[in-house]
Amino acid sequence: MTMVGQEDYQPDSFEFAPATMEMAQSEIAKYPDVRKASAVMPLLDLAQRQNDGWLPRAAMDYVARLLEMPPIKVYEVATFYTMYNLKPVGRHHVQVCTNLPCWLRGSDHIVNACKKKLGIGFGETTTNGDFTLTEVECLGACVNAPMFQINDDYYEDLDATSAISILTQLELGETPKPGSQIDRKSCEPIGGLTALFENNVKKTNA
Ligand code: FES
Repeated sequence: MTMVGQEDYQPDSFEFAPATMEMAQSEIAKYPDVRKASAVMPLLDLAQRQNDGWLPRAAMDYVARLLEMPPIKVYEVATFYTMYNLKPVGRHHVQVCTNLPCWLRGSDHIVNACKKKLGIGFGETTTNGDFTLTEVECLGACVNAPMFQINDDYYEDLDATSAISILTQLELGETPKPGSQIDRKSCEPIGGLTALFENNVKKTNA
């Protein structure tokens, strides 16, 4: 594993492990051979997952060779999306959305709570390598704003207290409950259904 403090470290080479290669081949098989470049995003994701959550230059070059693409085309994709980490990240990658809907719903409080709890700013990793804090644009969960993503999980309907509680649980090696932190069901209104009750449906159909 790449250690914290080695942000400039770049391995000389990269290649998929056999199990990852199998997944990569099944992604490539989804496209006609002349369009295999369409598999670039899932392959970069596989490379990142194999490499402790970040994407070294050697991995991008490897994906370019595999898909017979000019490396610059792969760099363009990898540098555009925040889902690709171009330097090592901590075990828990906390990505706080500060885009408009989350901001209107109090993302400033979430940002401040994370910075205070972890003692780091955006783009930084705790010295023990446990947490990296990143500011991101909309993650597509605005309906339950404000929210943050940690590794593959979304935590929604946050306030400062629930944000700190989630980080504390992770510190303790526990598994916080993902999704809405106010027990909202999916993205229904906070107070529950406001339409399509069984009786309403019956009345409408009557
Ligand atoms: S604005 Fe935050 S998830 Fe969309």
